[in-house]
Amino acid sequence: MKLAPSILSFDLTRLAETIPAILDLDPEVIHLDVMDGQFVPPITFGDSYVAALRKVTDAPFEVHLMTLSPERQFDAFIAAGCSRVTFHAEATAHAHRHIQALKERGVQAGLAINPGTPADFVEAVAADLDLALIMTVNPGWGGQKFLRETLPKVRQLRDRFPDLRIEVDGGIDPTTIKEAREAGADLFVVGSYFAKSSDMGRSRQLLEDAWSFE
Ligand code: DX5
Ligand code: ZN
Repeated sequence: MKLAPSILSFDLTRLAETIPAILDLDPEVIHLDVMDGQFVPPITFGDSYVAALRKVTDAPFEVHLMTLSPERQFDAFIAAGCSRVTFHAEATAHAHRHIQALKERGVQAGLAINPGTPADFVEAVAADLDLALIMTVNPGWGGQKFLRETLPKVRQLRDRFPDLRIEVDGGIDPTTIKEAREAGADLFVVGSYFAKSSDMGRSRQLLEDAWSFE
């Protein structure tokens, strides 16, 4: 089970103290949700916060840019220590060119799509992608309800691209992780399910039990 814990729903003022517990979850990568108040209504944090976080852990970081003109931010987040940059297909007319720009910079390129966006947007550039991020909630907030109607897109992409990394983001818990895995997802962003847990190790075990249940 490959996890990408999101820090969004944790207390950001105390994150340095929380990081060791997040690392105990054995994450593949730490998922950083950047929102600009334009592509989505909230504003979260920018590259300076990520650079500060980089000083307290050497775990891999992936940034999930929920920003318009995402390419303006690529260099800043790469400099801040992100080894994968995922941007939204809906936020730019030039996904193909921006994917090439990320690869030229030596980082992994991810493309995200909202619940209302067809999987074809990913298919068109799938051969060049390191990861597809299928939003299973509307971006902007943690703690929302998982949208099952997004799963056929995961299935479609898994059928056509057996080797593509497919990450799901939003509403992941022991019930929904099983459904997302069955659809073909292989990386799971987990935010509020961990942030509200009083025993994250136990919560991880519940996720793994559900994920591995045949
Ligand atoms: C939402 C973010 C998610 C969020 C997930 O826009 O992209 O990464 O943190 O949070 P949960 O797991 O609470 O849905
Ligand atoms: Zn995210």
